[in-house]
Amino acid sequence: MDRISIIQSLINANNYSSYLEIGVNRGYCFFNIKCKNKTGVDPRFEIPLWRKWLYIFKNTCNINNNYIEKTSDDFFKANKNSFDIILVDGLHTFQQSYKDIINSMQVLNQNGYILIHDCSPISAASAQDVESINEAKKHPEYEGDWSGAVWKSIIKFRQEYPNIFTAVIDTDHGVGIIAPHMKSTKQLSKNILLDQLHYSDLENNRKELLNLMSIQEYQSYLNHLGQ
Ligand SMILES: C[S@@+](CC[C@H](N)C(=O)[O-])C[C@H]1O[C@@H](n2cnc3c(N)ncnc32)[C@H](O)[C@@H]1O
Repeated sequence: MDRISIIQSLINANNYSSYLEIGVNRGYCFFNIKCKNKTGVDPRFEIPLWRKWLYIFKNTCNINNNYIEKTSDDFFKANKNSFDIILVDGLHTFQQSYKDIINSMQVLNQNGYILIHDCSPISAASAQDVESINEAKKHPEYEGDWSGAVWKSIIKFRQEYPNIFTAVIDTDHGVGIIAPHMKSTKQLSKNILLDQLHYSDLENNRKELLNLMSIQEYQSYLNHLGQ
């Protein structure tokens, strides 16, 4: 399972009709999602017109796509719509990813989900809190992966909203899942100071810090939804 199949499984299980993706890039995820109304937000879409047409043929849901060429902050300022399911996958800094999650909470429909990509980086080089891949590449141990500091947003969110179910599914660089309609059973101590937290702490304590969930656990949760 990857982020696309996780999002699609929740859309199918709940009959959702509106999907928002923050950070779309070339549309690898966005185009493949099957949902009636899809909105994509990115300050620099990398999608030529032919690709939009191609994906209308491959997935007819793309005929209604709403492309908003703005930063997430500008989008949330002007937006008047609400959504059943949201993927946060824009700028991967701690500050911006946390802001995107909080803004998403304000526009999420009841019984909806927020998914967050890149929550479980595989190395210190991949976990850098920088603004672009070019900056990330300067790290001496950089090996092609850059997830950024989104993992810190998961920890902060768990501290600030201890009663909301938050977990990271252990696949595809970590797919965060926030379900405001579900109660959390595992709380995280407020004593963990985020500005003193390093990648080594995550490495040593990944399961507890992220509330890491295996694919098998996610699948049994899904089966439970279908009952
Ligand atoms: C990792 S890519 C998204 C990948 C895409 N979600 C997928 O799964 O295929 C990150 C995207 O975020 C966009 N981005 C950067 N800053 C942003 C911001 N402030 N608001 C929204 N998107 C932003 C970039 O332009 C880039 O296209």
